[in-house]
Amino acid sequence: PDLTDMVGLPDFDWAARNYLPLQNYTYYRNGAAGEWSYRNNMEVFNRYNFIPSVMNDVTEIEDSLSTTILGHNFTAPFYISPCGSGIYGHPNAELNFVKGAAAGGILYIVGNYPSLLSYRANIPRPSGYASLSIEEIHAAKAQGQVVFQQLYLTKNDTETQDLFDRSKEAGADALVFTVDAPIFGTRQRAARLDVSLASSSYRYITWDYYKKLQSMTDLPIIVKGIMSVKDAKLAVKHKVPAIVLSNHGGRQLDGAPSALEVALEIYKKAPEVFEETEVYADGGVRYGTDALKLLALGVKAIGLGRPFMYSNVFGQEGVERAIALMKKELAVDAANLGLSDLKEIDASYVQWTHNDWS
Ligand code: FNR
Repeated sequence: PDLTDMVGLPDFDWAARNYLPLQNYTYYRNGAAGEWSYRNNMEVFNRYNFIPSVMNDVTEIEDSLSTTILGHNFTAPFYISPCGSGIYGHPNAELNFVKGAAAGGILYIVGNYPSLLSYRANIPRPSGYASLSIEEIHAAKAQGQVVFQQLYLTKNDTETQDLFDRSKEAGADALVFTVDAPIFGTRQRAARLDVSLASSSYRYITWDYYKKLQSMTDLPIIVKGIMSVKDAKLAVKHKVPAIVLSNHGGRQLDGAPSALEVALEIYKKAPEVFEETEVYADGGVRYGTDALKLLALGVKAIGLGRPFMYSNVFGQEGVERAIALMKKELAVDAANLGLSDLKEIDASYVQWTHNDWS
């Protein structure tokens, strides 16, 4: 199939499964353990129906998708989630995400700095290509393009300071600190093919540690991987500029709730969180309607991981097409929901009780 056969984001999963060596595809596709959270991330969206409104003027909807993320302007409220190892999808690896995001006007969050982790050597890499450094990735930015840098950190403060300084020097506009992976999850699908992460050790990440990080850079440090109301409130208390509700695409703790479930709990029990910090969310978003349900609760921006990793099998054009398809779906779905402007969406557009026939 060629790129024009891709009519929705799930098509890229199918394409990647067909085109990539099995180990590469499996590294992307994998979830933790029985992959319950991986599946739930996608299935949860179907548990809640919309409450559409008809007879509204929706002619301008396509012009209303733009938003700000930490004060920066973007054309749509979704972004490319940080994922390691773009090299397993395409020889140009992360460069396709930087350039695709620039062309589409959306945010790209660069995944972890690859050399910090040692991957199994038997994952095929196109010969002659190495994983890219922070400097190489940011150097590919368009004039004025805003890109955030995600980091895993080690206990070694000198190394952390160095990564912070290099990210800033390279032009990152914010840092994203991923906290849901104190140790890498049990990923059996990959382990069976001998493509699991080689090793990692239990981590030391605490709120005190976060406070120390804040003193080491003047870049905003977003916290990614919040999965409870309690932790969302603690993040606000620690003046985190933005949080990402995420279970790491179901790759860490099987049984961890989806971002939609956490967002709903926050909406019910601590709605002030949505005002006091910016709340982003990722996991299982494959359709415009999925994104609408998160936006309805007050989520400001929505990340997509695997769909973009898979779209990269078509290179930069694939990334651009995935962005365009998602924008189109958002607009069409918002119009059919009855919105004149995407920013009108709120929780009243969704039936937040489970559908049952009792
Ligand atoms: C990830 N994710 C991730 N997150 C992070 O903070 N740092 C990382 O290096 C990675 N690496 C990574 C690799 C791959 C192959 C995947 C699929 C995911 C998690 C990612 O940012 C995001 O939370 C999920 O991908 C969202 O779920 P979906 O959209 O993939 O369902």
